[in-house]
Amino acid sequence: MDLKTTYLGLELANPIVSGSCPLGANLDTVRLLEDAGAAAVVMPSLFEEEIMAAATAQMEMESAGAGFAEASSYIPNPEGYHIGPDHYLEHVQGAKEAVSIPIIASINGTSAGGWTRYAKKMEEAGADALELNTYYIATDANEPGSDVEKRTLDIVTAVKEAVSIPIAVKLSPFFSSLANFAKQLQEKGADGLVIFNRFYQPDLDIEELDVVPNLRLSTADELRLRLRWLAILSSQVELSLAATGGAHNAVDVIKATMAGAHSVQMVSALLIHGPEHIKRTLEAVDFWLTEHEYESLRQMQGSMNMSKVPDAAKLTRANYMKMLDSWQQ
Ligand SMILES: Cc1cc2nc3c(=O)[nH]c(=O)nc-3n(C[C@H](O)[C@H](O)[C@H](O)COP(=O)(O)O)c2cc1C
Repeated sequence: MDLKTTYLGLELANPIVSGSCPLGANLDTVRLLEDAGAAAVVMPSLFEEEIMAAATAQMEMESAGAGFAEASSYIPNPEGYHIGPDHYLEHVQGAKEAVSIPIIASINGTSAGGWTRYAKKMEEAGADALELNTYYIATDANEPGSDVEKRTLDIVTAVKEAVSIPIAVKLSPFFSSLANFAKQLQEKGADGLVIFNRFYQPDLDIEELDVVPNLRLSTADELRLRLRWLAILSSQVELSLAATGGAHNAVDVIKATMAGAHSVQMVSALLIHGPEHIKRTLEAVDFWLTEHEYESLRQMQGSMNMSKVPDAAKLTRANYMKMLDSWQQ
């Protein structure tokens, strides 16, 4: 079965991409992902905070006239797999040498500051494309939504000016007019959207009166928000679309593709089952397409988007009342 797809102008052997997470932080694991059939690997994000911290350390070192040994003590000890900008670039280069599938670097920031020049360095390190994650919680009651949108648009403009590789923007679902915002991103030169960022919801500890961060892996239920917006967006924008969030098995990959995804990222499923899960999922997608007499994955792409489904209202408000009425005890 022909499972090929085009995402961000990259020819992928199939739609399954290993999404941004610690799996991409280890070159042996990146090789395992390729062996298991991953069509591309998104690196864990390099954070604006890491870039700015390293730049501050550099400035302090220069103004103090300190030598390298002293300077290194300023550089924050990166926690976990967040390795800092220089190592990040080396890692991208290492990943490019280790495998032949596309490597997508990821940069995570909220303002169009000096950190965006790292996009250029990522390109020079060999990244085939960039994923921009603008994870941001708008908490200031004085900040209008248009300012939040403008910030992301400015980041896209700045990065687009800096690089010639394609860029995808990893978005949250919390925009008042997402389809319009997607169109604006397209006008600024974005090549694709990755939908959606998962916001990790902190919990409250009622004994300690503290906020408790907790990272939970996704469940397949989360895919449905993505399916609706893939179906809505794919009928209205020219952008490449990647699904992220809740894709756990072959049926999820098929649904996302029918809704209009050009690639489907997996993270939680791979963290639970390991890279081999990709191979099993691809075999099941292949089997399903053959059984249903498709000639290729492309034939299925977008076949259930908003312009193609018989009753598009089911994707929007009209279905709301009917669905509530359908509840039976
Ligand atoms: C442990 C962990 C680390 C992650 N790190 C990043 C990251 O550095 N940058 C990013 O954009 N997304 C990151 N994500 C989010 C994933 O890329 C993905 O969007 C999310 O997990 C939803 O997909 P899933 O349902 O397949 O897990 C991370 C997720 C997990 C579970």
